[in-house]
Amino acid sequence: MTHWIIQQYIQQGDTVIDATCGNGHDTLFLSESVGQNGHVFAFDIQESACKATEKILQDNATFHNVTIFNQSHDSLYSSIHNQFHGHIMAVMFNLGYLPQSDKSIITQPHTTYSAIEQSCSILQSGGVITIAVYVEHNGGKDELQSVKNILSHLPSSNFSIAHLCYPYKKRSAPELFVIYKRG
Ligand SMILES: C[S@@+](CC[C@H](N)C(=O)[O-])C[C@H]1O[C@@H](n2cnc3c(N)ncnc32)[C@H](O)[C@@H]1O
Repeated sequence: MTHWIIQQYIQQGDTVIDATCGNGHDTLFLSESVGQNGHVFAFDIQESACKATEKILQDNATFHNVTIFNQSHDSLYSSIHNQFHGHIMAVMFNLGYLPQSDKSIITQPHTTYSAIEQSCSILQSGGVITIAVYVEHNGGKDELQSVKNILSHLPSSNFSIAHLCYPYKKRSAPELFVIYKRG
């Protein structure tokens, strides 16, 4: 669903961010979507995740259009050159832990909060941020609260926010937030 939503907003030549590249599936999707003249900035704090992303790109990507930062996404404002500020068309957050990896390494409410704030400031008008929040693991509910907190403070004159969830699932399913920056 996230990929489908992002596709409605981005096109070839755009600059986009994968704020949690993990195993690289979303980075690969973004790379293919923005094409040779576009660019993807990808972040992850785990070296193994950055290597997995490099590998999936080497094996599958059509274009050489990705820069990977082995850094926390709360450094995205300073890591991405200011020539791109205001020209980012999409930012994807896929929170929680890396599947088939150390489940104690998870995204944290305070860094997530700061990274969302930074993303909002460098997003182009007409661009979109997606945030998939997982609530099953320890710390997941706190992070959901933190995400809701920052989103409730965004000025509605500049941002439209949608919240998608699966109310009839027995287990807690991920929740998706979509932030659209108005023109
Ligand atoms: C659910 S996984 C991402 C899955 C990924 N999008 C994919 O397509 O495979 C969450 C990732 O967030 C990373 N992470 C945790 N804290 C982070 C932070 N502060 N900055 C960037 N990445 C972080 C984890 O290392 C993990 O790889």
